[in-house]
Amino acid sequence: DKGNHRHFMEKEIYEQPEVVTHTLAHYIDFAKGEIRDGADKLDFAALDRLAISACGTAYYAGLIGKYWFERYARLPVEIDVASEFRYREMPLTGKMAALFVSQSGETADTLASLRYCKGEGVAIGAIVNVAESTIAREADAVFPTLAGPEIGVASTKAFTCQLAVLASLALAAAKARGTLTRAQESEMVQALVEGRRIFGEVLRSVQPRIERLSRELSQYKDVLYLGRGTNYPLALEGALKLKEISYIHAEGYAAGELKHGPIALIDEAMPVIVIAPHDKLFEKTASNMQEVAARGGRIILITDEKGARAVSLKTMETIILPQVADIVTPILYALPVQLIAYHTAVFMGTDVDQPRNLAKSVTVE
Ligand code: M6R
Repeated sequence: DKGNHRHFMEKEIYEQPEVVTHTLAHYIDFAKGEIRDGADKLDFAALDRLAISACGTAYYAGLIGKYWFERYARLPVEIDVASEFRYREMPLTGKMAALFVSQSGETADTLASLRYCKGEGVAIGAIVNVAESTIAREADAVFPTLAGPEIGVASTKAFTCQLAVLASLALAAAKARGTLTRAQESEMVQALVEGRRIFGEVLRSVQPRIERLSRELSQYKDVLYLGRGTNYPLALEGALKLKEISYIHAEGYAAGELKHGPIALIDEAMPVIVIAPHDKLFEKTASNMQEVAARGGRIILITDEKGARAVSLKTMETIILPQVADIVTPILYALPVQLIAYHTAVFMGTDVDQPRNLAKSVTVE
């Protein structure tokens, strides 16, 4: 049942404030301001590395998780798409664990990677949305996302719930490894708890502007997404989401890679969506934006008040989000990114919930 929504995808986008809260509450004791015991079922303290693997959107969630595990828990992370992981003959040495991320829990390549690691005696964790899935059954430790059933082929609420779990696990790992003080834990937890309160309001407030922008975007053939740090995987996710449901060609790039090739494509026919909260990498991304503008590129900037004030160039659109802590930005910035893809696809008149050639669960290789 779609309720008042035109598509399941839209309904699922708007469910995020609730399901992300629900998921966070599973790992975080809001009242005490701490990560719950048991959030860390993988003995993170004993590890010297973690391998993460997944496909599609779940892979991009894992990629953001890598930044978090390394930054907060000082735990080195290797990450691959599952269809590469299973064949690349990685030496599974040392004290390692493997973490798989999957909405359906049935993705063939992710499952095969899990079985490969299991056969080698590696401890397995799985972040899954479908509790009774094969991946959930075969993992040693299951970390559920509580997104509820996701019907739209384009993953939205499962993604932000995966991020909520990964943020919680990175903090749990940091605690276990002694890289997070009690005061830092309570500060980060507070940031997540407060962050989820604003998601609903943000969805409502950016919607009209994004609809207007999407009408325009639907006229273009190519779109480039740029981001740095944890905004880089979000750029990849934005491009994937746009191409899968609107069929507009889109690419996501690390902003710093612009000069290494994609800048050759810049002209007024390819809008560039820049995902850039005013964090410590902002200045770098702003200079990439200048390079785009200098070549006649049209910029859509997703940022906060500070970021908007810091750039003087003319944009095609600027979407301003509230200023939040670093650990909250990927979840918050995912919202406009999803809405852009959704509304653009609606203007294109595509079958948003059932895009051509795609299946919700990819159980073949
Ligand atoms: O069920 P899974 O999370 O394992 O699925 C992985 C991908 O197939 C999935 O995220 C796909 O990329 C989505 N269509 C993205 O919107």
